[in-house]
Amino acid sequence: MKQEEIAVKGFLYCRRKLCGEEVALKEITRETGTPCYIYSRGALQSNARRFQEAFSTINHRVCFAVKANRSLAVLQAFAGQGLGFDLVSGGELAAVIRAGANPHHLIYSGVGKTKEEICLALRTGILQFNVESAEELAQIRVCARESGCVAPIALRVNPDVETGTHPYIRTGSSRHKFGIDFQEVFSLVREIRRWKEIRLQGLACHIGSQICQLAPFEEAFSRMARLFQDLKSQGIALQTVDLGGGLGVRYNRETPPPLARYASLVRRHFASCQALVLLEPGRYLLADAGVLVTRLLYRKETRGKHFYIVDAGMNDLIRPTLYQAWHEILPLQLNSKRPRLKADVVGPLCETGDFLARDRLLPEMKPGEELALLQAAAYGYAQSSNYNARLRPPEVMINGKTWQETRPRESEEDLFRGETLLP
Ligand code: LLP
Repeated sequence: MKQEEIAVKGFLYCRRKLCGEEVALKEITRETGTPCYIYSRGALQSNARRFQEAFSTINHRVCFAVKANRSLAVLQAFAGQGLGFDLVSGGELAAVIRAGANPHHLIYSGVGKTKEEICLALRTGILQFNVESAEELAQIRVCARESGCVAPIALRVNPDVETGTHPYIRTGSSRHKFGIDFQEVFSLVREIRRWKEIRLQGLACHIGSQICQLAPFEEAFSRMARLFQDLKSQGIALQTVDLGGGLGVRYNRETPPPLARYASLVRRHFASCQALVLLEPGRYLLADAGVLVTRLLYRKETRGKHFYIVDAGMNDLIRPTLYQAWHEILPLQLNSKRPRLKADVVGPLCETGDFLARDRLLPEMKPGEELALLQAAAYGYAQSSNYNARLRPPEVMINGKTWQETRPRESEEDLFRGETLLP
């Protein structure tokens, strides 16, 4: 398989078999069983390279948003490409350190950092904390004083823009819990300048996820650029500007802006500001680099409505349930002669919301056959759970002709670890 093909989609049919790079997925699931998450290292790496190249003419650092996928093998592949990371918990900090990240390339975001997490990040020597409130800032100051160091921070500003994305993944409006109000920034900055434990080095924003128009970015970036210049004219020169993530991908019929146009928007607003531009893509770097393979258990027809009951459910991939998200579904074995039928693809959990697709036109299939849900690498495994006492699936990384199970299927011991019975 050619590298360009991997860049478009890590998974393609080859002699009627769905393959990741040069491995037929069936070969993998024969050993691992289903459900199973399978990633393509080539796709991960080429996505990262493409993103970095799009910004090559400006001083920038790409920091992968770990929340999209914190699996160590994925983080390790990105660290190997020179990516930094955007974190939201002490657990994510521990993960990137295990995966070999450079501590100086770490950004710590999130509205509710605890004292312990802040102290851990200070000891690690991260690039910056993106601060979301005056009270959080006071806590960081206490931690810095106690640890005898200076905390590097950026203020995460809420640019008050609306994005046309799903309500649960919008973050940039003043009604949302994220960021500091524009009007508060100046008074906060004046206060910070008197504090020796805090070094204000930048501004940050993040307006939402799966954004498929440029207009909200344009609005947010122009507000951020103006704020940056206003501060400069008041003698406050900042060294970093963090533009968050959020660039959408095409799952179905969306038409997200091309990366090059997003990059030129960033350049237009920030090339002249002489700051390090930080970018926090999650989804864009890996959505297409992984699939979830599941097996058809049973078929059922109720008054003309068809159900495909499969062995993966909402605990393995919650995006369809939570965000009405659409994932393309392909059979591992292609057979174009099969008739098609409209079916709901549902999991084994006891919830009506346990579905992976609704009214989807699919080839007629028999129990035992396998299906792949595409573009499942971003917010797939990362949002999985043990609901209904289900064991989380294994994860596999393909690299060319070879593959490796990077995390085994959970066992019964994993399920009950740490629990005690009453005396
Ligand atoms: N930076 C910050 C501060 C964020 O909160 C997020 C995502 C990102 C970067 C990365 O955004 P991305 O480039 O991936 O759009 N679970 C949802 C998405 C939640 C996004 C949360 N924040 C989903 O599956 O659609």
